[in-house]
Amino acid sequence: MELTKAEERILRGEEGEGRRKAMELVTALGKIYGAEGLIDITSAHLSGASYKTIGDGGLKYLEDLADGGAKVSVPSTLNPVGMDRGRWREMHISEDFAKKQLRIIDLYGRMGVKTTCSCTPYTGANVPRKGDHVAWAESSALSFVNSYVGARTNREGGPGALAAAILGKTANYGLHLDSNRRPTVAVDADIDGSVFSHSLLGQAVGMTIGGGVPYFKGIKPGVEEAKALSAAMAASGSVALYHVEGVTPEAGGCDLEGLETIHIGKHELDDAYSKLNVAEDVELIAIGCPHLTEKEMHQIAAFLKGKKKARKDVEIWFCTSAEVRDRCSDDVRVMEEFGPVLADTCMVVAPIEGTFSRTGTNSAKAGNYLPTLCSQKALCRDMTALLEMVI
Ligand code: F3S
Repeated sequence: MELTKAEERILRGEEGEGRRKAMELVTALGKIYGAEGLIDITSAHLSGASYKTIGDGGLKYLEDLADGGAKVSVPSTLNPVGMDRGRWREMHISEDFAKKQLRIIDLYGRMGVKTTCSCTPYTGANVPRKGDHVAWAESSALSFVNSYVGARTNREGGPGALAAAILGKTANYGLHLDSNRRPTVAVDADIDGSVFSHSLLGQAVGMTIGGGVPYFKGIKPGVEEAKALSAAMAASGSVALYHVEGVTPEAGGCDLEGLETIHIGKHELDDAYSKLNVAEDVELIAIGCPHLTEKEMHQIAAFLKGKKKARKDVEIWFCTSAEVRDRCSDDVRVMEEFGPVLADTCMVVAPIEGTFSRTGTNSAKAGNYLPTLCSQKALCRDMTALLEMVI
């Protein structure tokens, strides 16, 4: 891999230990994946922010980087952490967990990362443009910006995205290159237009193709539907890029000749639904995977207004970003009659397994991860069906 003189200086440690470590990691990834060199990025989004997922080893790694003077050199945002910074006691979080979680957020802040802690930074805090090269972790968010926005990122891990953010550069391979952004399969989708159906569609397609770049026909997703589709397909099939005819910015230029077509309709959605539904009843209902948008906050508040929570044995959490929560104070007042509106966190990266064992979600992504990362039996329904369980 060819490095410029300036990049070689960084690798020799002439710009500090933090930047040296970052360059070592980015060039190692570049060599593994056959990159010819590095490219400049315009932003980064970092995962590996919850104490639950990175533990003491990750905390120490961040301390070493921050103490080594590492600073991000492009606008960078952070994924959800293990708790709401101000309301962690309502989430049954221990003092020890909270202390370490706050320390992690502080370390990212010291490195210049914007500590908004959301998996939907593309709705406000960090919005790439079409054609931008970026280094994003968080499988749902990177799929959204690759596909719906037309920015270019690989499926970065937490350390790789942080290293790229420190350098302002990443290795030029994979989805940064035109040749890897071509569709590999066409999907003829026959579904209704609801957000939940897009989540099940993503689950079904991910389960069927297990990777690659699908090209959808028959759907017209808006932001909320694309958010659900991106998250579900990333979780069930590691899909990091898709195109939608007439919707996504690169779809018009795609060559479809010779592409295999798969059909996804009611039968496939039923299969996806059965895979995600194991529990009969729940102790926690957690809505907001990926984080709720303003539109979704309005919809939930409108649905709940004038109703009462009948089941005291079930907790409800609504997960969103701090920015959206601040902008939706009227909705928050209605929703909080039912449960806390939590910012900075979610049901998967919070340590819910210490308190709950059966959790309801309206997200196929959470439906995949609740059993594996949180030891939960999951129940997956659309938003109104979930809420109707407790009113
Ligand atoms: Fe976001 Fe957590 Fe879902 S990070 S995409 S709400 S699993």
